[in-house]
Amino acid sequence: METLSVDYLVVGGGIAGFQAILSLLPHGTAMLVSKGPLSSGSSYFAQGGLALPWGFTEDDIESHVQDTIRAGAGLCDPVAVRLLIEGAEEAFEGLLRYGVPFDRDPRGHLRTTREAAHSRSRIVHAGGDRTGALILKGLAEAAFRQPHFRFLSPYQLYQIRMDENGDAKGAYFLGERDSDLLEIRARAVVLATGGAGSLFLRTTNPRFQRGDGVSIAFRAGCEIERMAYYQFHPTVLDLPGTPPFLLTEAMRGEGAHLLDKKGERFLYRYHPDGELAPRDVVARALWIELSKNPGQEISLSVNHLPNGFVRNRFPQVYGHLKELGIDLETTPVPIRPAAHFQMGGIRTDMTGKTGVRGLWAIGEVASTRVHGANRLASNSLLEALVMGRRLVQSVLEESSRHMSGGTSGQEARKLSRMVLPEFSGEESWASLKTVLWEKAGIIRTLKGGKKGLEWVEDRLRAGRSVPVHGSQFAYANGLLVAKLIFQDILTAPVVGAHYMVFGPEADQIDGGCP
Ligand code: SIN
Repeated sequence: METLSVDYLVVGGGIAGFQAILSLLPHGTAMLVSKGPLSSGSSYFAQGGLALPWGFTEDDIESHVQDTIRAGAGLCDPVAVRLLIEGAEEAFEGLLRYGVPFDRDPRGHLRTTREAAHSRSRIVHAGGDRTGALILKGLAEAAFRQPHFRFLSPYQLYQIRMDENGDAKGAYFLGERDSDLLEIRARAVVLATGGAGSLFLRTTNPRFQRGDGVSIAFRAGCEIERMAYYQFHPTVLDLPGTPPFLLTEAMRGEGAHLLDKKGERFLYRYHPDGELAPRDVVARALWIELSKNPGQEISLSVNHLPNGFVRNRFPQVYGHLKELGIDLETTPVPIRPAAHFQMGGIRTDMTGKTGVRGLWAIGEVASTRVHGANRLASNSLLEALVMGRRLVQSVLEESSRHMSGGTSGQEARKLSRMVLPEFSGEESWASLKTVLWEKAGIIRTLKGGKKGLEWVEDRLRAGRSVPVHGSQFAYANGLLVAKLIFQDILTAPVVGAHYMVFGPEADQIDGGCP
């Protein structure tokens, strides 16, 4: 087994991970370990933008705080929300220093847009709809310029390395070959591994976002909470034979319409803000429409917008559809919701500190309670950036107070064999994704939640000792995340993105989206 040592270990190559690296590098050596290339995580695909209390006055901050709390359906922590929004200006200035090319008008003023449930136009964007990729590029380039930075990929997180007191002192990783085990000793470990959307049948997330950070933190003793609150994005391309593809909410912010089969803008029947209603409301409205009229098509239309506008403002979306033979400016496209964002996760405070000493979690993998039961659009990139900065003080204090005694830690379990559930490759993944989609989808029932839990527990119980296998291990992690989701579904308050139907009609329900 190879062993490396570093002061600060960050796991996850997205915006949260790189922001954390840049915050920690002035204080020691730092290493970022990623499961794949930077283009394989969710950050790279983030289209909409970065929500800011634009103007940054007290009034702008207050309005952003109130919009976040309203969208969160009663479950936001207001103190955490305020800390998040107050951190926006500094985070944004950092991005300008890293040279992130935010879109500007011909006079050089930043362009802003509005997205659902925002009362003002406050979302800044880059490259039109390539905001995530361009922010990530700016941060990554800045990190790679630093002498004390090291990047390792592809390595799959396997286990947190604990000392005899139960403190985190690094982590173990599986390399490309199942027999490769890498030990990294560190004074502080930061998990920025993202969400678990790819455990659902339909998702906007890239393929490997399967919740491994949550399952590994759970095994290390972290509290996991609010896993029932999974956000479904309403406007995701639904064409037979092509993978789901996000059609950013910013398109609705710029005037796109959602149409039913009669060509009517049906959303005003569900919410006074129509297309700009909160995401959970719009996703549920689509579910109801599609369930009432099986086979009907709901479409997104921009036909009424000026010629050339969409092509310039949303080049990524426009180009993707063009490759599929569709001219978005003239042709409405079919949409159906898909799993998008994990609001719960590893419980942390607003410095990213988990309940395990030496271990921090930030970004989508963490539950800071800022998003409540339904995240406000474009607050996720903001959270990744702000938390990637806020953790520094607590990492420095804790690692000097509790961890000055070196980095001795327990050895990894012998790796030649592990107890893992039965696994038949894509078939096993497909069954798990179907169960989550149908029983933990947009609409849930008690019966569905119980059945889902039983299904997952049966598979976990049937585990056997087998030679170590990275894919099978990932599947075991996926099952554990599903278990945590179903357990929470059966007990969590029924609000926002966790919407339950009770009574006789519940028996008929397929909770995904027909
Ligand atoms: C989108 O562009 O619609 C997604 C942005 C977000 O998840 O906030």
